[in-house]
Amino acid sequence: ASVDRGSAPDFTAKEIDEQPAAARRLLDGLLGRLQGGQLLEDLGLGAPARIRLVACGTSGHAAEVTARVLAVEGAIPTRVVTASEPDLAVPEPGTLTVAVSQSGETADVLAALDRWGDPVLAITNAPRSSLARRADAVLGLGCGPEVGVAATKTFTAQVVAGVALALAVASGTGRLSAARLAHLEEVLDGLPMRLATTAARAAGPAADLAEELAGEPGVVFVSRGAGVPYAREGALKLEELTYRWVEAVPAGELKHGPIALLGPGTPAVVVAAKPRGRLAVGIAEMTARGARAVVVGPPEDATLPTCAPSEEPPWGPLEAAIALQLFAREMTVRLGHEVDRPRNLAKSVTVE
Ligand code: AGP
Repeated sequence: ASVDRGSAPDFTAKEIDEQPAAARRLLDGLLGRLQGGQLLEDLGLGAPARIRLVACGTSGHAAEVTARVLAVEGAIPTRVVTASEPDLAVPEPGTLTVAVSQSGETADVLAALDRWGDPVLAITNAPRSSLARRADAVLGLGCGPEVGVAATKTFTAQVVAGVALALAVASGTGRLSAARLAHLEEVLDGLPMRLATTAARAAGPAADLAEELAGEPGVVFVSRGAGVPYAREGALKLEELTYRWVEAVPAGELKHGPIALLGPGTPAVVVAAKPRGRLAVGIAEMTARGARAVVVGPPEDATLPTCAPSEEPPWGPLEAAIALQLFAREMTVRLGHEVDRPRNLAKSVTVE
């Protein structure tokens, strides 16, 4: 069926806007099913001893967030495998393979699954895809069609679904207490509202920043801890839409090489995350070289303001993703590039 973009200027704009509603729908189906690993039981899966997440691109960033929550809240041995580079993942007993793919048709993901004999859970927006058919269980995103080649609403939804899975696994092992789970469910429940507030807060600043930085040849992205996958995702969004060079690294890695890229005025996007103190060191290192720090985070000290919970949750500053999507889209419009169909890219990459 053809999809209508209504009054939105492009599908990407429409899909960025749809994120609070998509997150709400998904959370309504997931919250209340996490205690004791209920979600796994509902999916017909046993409690895994370890988890292997396999994905590409943006879906890989959502997988990184999921892995962190599994590690922090459940101490579950977890590995994120880039689907096109599966050699390092050796078969280990008791592993659940979680394939994350919005399209469910990514050839590298499907090929990687042929290597392991483990049960497969698909996290996908395409319940009738090749991946969904191949998987033993499917956790659907229910986002509706995503037309823009740059994944936006499916990224947010993959994070929500992955976090819910991680919390269910952690609760099932008993490592995540009922009280902590209840607290985290409450924080998740507030996510749609925070995403909507972030979109409203960041829209104007994202447009201004895009105007200022449109002439820049490249942008560096940094964060720390749980913010790193969002720095990587913001960088991927910017490069695929604007064709600018990007470098995305944990802030602590700057001094090991990437700091050489910085000169007077180099834009350095900082995704605010805990621990703030150590991130502040990274910002100071960059500004000392003349870089222009662009902070994405709570309004007090941010160029791109978000609405974040007062205490950083284990899945990190997810709200920053929407601010960075808006920024990437605005810069694309200013550069006169096609927003929904960037050059050289396909929505589903069906070749290995
Ligand atoms: C996202 O903006 C990209 N277009 C791309 O990295 C994408 O996430 C990747 O190709 C994986 O696609 P999938 O989620 O359909 O497997």
